[in-house]
Amino acid sequence: MADLSGKVFVITGGNSGIGLGMAEGIAAAGGSLAIWGRRSEKNDEAVAILEAHGVTARGYVCDVGDEQQIVDTMAQTVADFGRLDGCIANAGRSGTGTPFIEMTMKEWRAIMSVNLDSVFVTMREAAKVLVAQRTGGSLAAVSSTSAIHGAAGNEAYGTSKTAINGLVRALAVGLARHQIRVNSLVPGWTKTELAGPAFANEKFRDATTRRTPVRRWAEPSEFRDIGVFLADPSLTYHTGQEVVVDGGYTVF
Ligand SMILES: NC(=O)c1ccc[n+]([C@@H]2O[C@H](COP(=O)([O-])OP(=O)(O)OC[C@H]3O[C@@H](n4cnc5c(N)ncnc54)[C@H](OP(=O)(O)O)[C@@H]3O)[C@@H](O)[C@H]2O)c1
Repeated sequence: MADLSGKVFVITGGNSGIGLGMAEGIAAAGGSLAIWGRRSEKNDEAVAILEAHGVTARGYVCDVGDEQQIVDTMAQTVADFGRLDGCIANAGRSGTGTPFIEMTMKEWRAIMSVNLDSVFVTMREAAKVLVAQRTGGSLAAVSSTSAIHGAAGNEAYGTSKTAINGLVRALAVGLARHQIRVNSLVPGWTKTELAGPAFANEKFRDATTRRTPVRRWAEPSEFRDIGVFLADPSLTYHTGQEVVVDGGYTVF
């Protein structure tokens, strides 16, 4: 079991779903947590769950679609906790379902802003802190199996998640000299708020379940130990990788 006591981690979108699952794993391993999300009541609920593990947790209201809010929230987080050891850029939104030939630039940009631009800015601000601290650390971003299978009908979402993997590979190479490891998580179908409408669609749920060798969607709690694995700064030789956790969906 990893020991993350004394270490501080940011998880964007950590008040729900996969982000909260990873945050719980990190809390169980003794890590302190800063949870960023737009809804303060959801942040409060998540903080209570994390504090039950006996660690320090704080919620921050931040819309990662806004560069300045990310910059300010990272500065506030580091001021509050006094240091940073890792950051998981997990916050994301679903696509709009608009047919490709009807998609406007405004819709495309709205998805890119939350799913890709936010990862760039969050990683940049976290890397600045880690480089200045000279402690090394761990960065991770949450991609999707949509980056692997052709995400027809969900082109903007799939493109944003594919680009995350490119960013992660570039950062892994560039930041290795600072002892910063950078990886991405590629989750498969998981029962969360974001994926709720897809799960509620019986035809879609059955089709995706049949295509998943373990024959079910994941629970957010199944990302607990994966979160620890991605956040642990001591795993220094594991960098530049896509950690696929999809019940075998992409190899079937
Ligand atoms: N569920 C799946 O099947 C699946 C599969 C592959 C990848 N993913 C990815 O996993 C990540 C987590 O999603 P999830 O499935 O766990 O969904 P979720 O339970 O709905 O969680 C999404 C989180 O992102 C936050 N968020 C959304 N927009 C935000 C914004 N503009 N600023 C700040 N925070 C924002 C939400 O908090 P607030 O609403 O309070 O802001 C929430 O905490 C996403 O990147 C998603 O694309 C999910």
